[in-house]
Amino acid sequence: MENTVTIIDNRTGKKYDLPIMYGTYKTYGAAIRTADLRQIKLSEDDFGLMSYDPGFTNTASCKSAITFIDGERGILHYRGYPIDLLAGKSSFLEVAYLILHGELPKKDEMDDWKHQITHHTMVHEHVKKFMDGFHHDAHPMGILVSTVAALSTFYPAAKKVRDPETRRQEIYRLVAKMPTIAAHAYRHSMGLPYVYPDNDLGYAGNFLNMLFKMTEVKYEPDEVLERALDVLFILHADHEQNCSANTMRSVGSSLPDPYVAVASAAAALYGPLHGGANEQVLRMLREIGSLDRVPEYIKRAKAGEFRLMGFGHRVYKNYDPRARILREMAPKVFEVTGKNELLDIAIELERIALEDEYFVDRKLYPNVDFYSGIIYQAIGFPVAMFPVLFAIPRTIGWLAQWQEMLDDSDQKIARPRQVFTGYDNREYVPVSKR
Ligand code: SDX
Repeated sequence: MENTVTIIDNRTGKKYDLPIMYGTYKTYGAAIRTADLRQIKLSEDDFGLMSYDPGFTNTASCKSAITFIDGERGILHYRGYPIDLLAGKSSFLEVAYLILHGELPKKDEMDDWKHQITHHTMVHEHVKKFMDGFHHDAHPMGILVSTVAALSTFYPAAKKVRDPETRRQEIYRLVAKMPTIAAHAYRHSMGLPYVYPDNDLGYAGNFLNMLFKMTEVKYEPDEVLERALDVLFILHADHEQNCSANTMRSVGSSLPDPYVAVASAAAALYGPLHGGANEQVLRMLREIGSLDRVPEYIKRAKAGEFRLMGFGHRVYKNYDPRARILREMAPKVFEVTGKNELLDIAIELERIALEDEYFVDRKLYPNVDFYSGIIYQAIGFPVAMFPVLFAIPRTIGWLAQWQEMLDDSDQKIARPRQVFTGYDNREYVPVSKR
């Protein structure tokens, strides 16, 4: 029968026809409902088959219309728009609206969105007291995760997650306040006073203001760096069901407020295999230190001694389109900030890796983190801030995924099964006889 798969259970000889469900494309994203496997049993009291997929390498946890990635062809679309078009023609706030609402905003919609975000950038003065409690060398990602979770206590009404108007308000607050909290975490680590938002500046420009304003009366962001940061934010806004988006959906499925859900997603992003990779890329490039040491490190990575940070991807088995955009943008940033020898090492690392069969066979290409870290470092960010710079734009992605999950009638609290491999029923043995 069309649009089904037939499974024959060779243990019983029984045949089962399972319907195939499709998304937008016939050849990318077709699936069976795993629950349909449960009918495949040895006997009536058999629980039935499950699917086993550690790390969800081939499991669709949801239907989504937000972001499409074709890893084999190196394609990334937000709501149908190719990432290179958006990076070239749009702004982060406009892309954030698109990701959340599904359409590019009309002028009045954009004006309102911009007004709302601009006027929600301040945080309660008590947040500073909370932040001052951290050691001077506290990792800014640890500060961000805990401070975002703490915001949950300032907005108890946010728990009404099923109310669209409440969600709208909390989304404004989270998108607007992430740069403020991130900048305060940076200023705290530098022993500098916090800088208040400047409503005359754009999203990226105001962030630079809260980070780097010193004694001048009014901070004026460098236009090239402001645009570079805005493009970096566009590239990092969403990436379908990555580790942190999956965390946002899983935590969000038990219906807590969006602050603790975003904090949990940021915690997932903190990991060195995910959003923490850009920090590790810089540390790796610094450890390599010079061009002549690159072959030695390639050899060690191939021996499995360590992972070439910024290389490889669960989905992209081709060049990450975001890395390509950053690779082309980097020299424009360095014209302002000055040449960066780490870029030379990165390009040499990439050149060798793209020719080497170990990486080619495993389809390991540079990912977004490979170049973002070098650009952040050139702009003047300390390495520890890199995952924070990833979390700021990814907040809109997490919130869009969260909202889509809440509005999806298929969705319920996330609660996977397991393949149990432990002991069968056992008698209790008193300690004297163990
Ligand atoms: C992000 O999911 C997303 O969309 C994430 C992200 C987003 O926008 O949200 O794109 C952002 O997280 C980018 C990825 C950043 N992480 C890194 O750069 C860390 C280094 N890369 C890896 O650790 C790894 O590539 C992952 C975690 C990204 C993906 O790992 P997978 O899909 O689980 O693949 P794997 O670990 O099974 O590796 C397959 C093979 C293995 O070799 P064998 O055991 O088959 O011999 O490739 C090897 C791995 O050892 N391998 C690497 C490698 N990455 C994988 N070998 C050397 N260097 C690497 N970087």
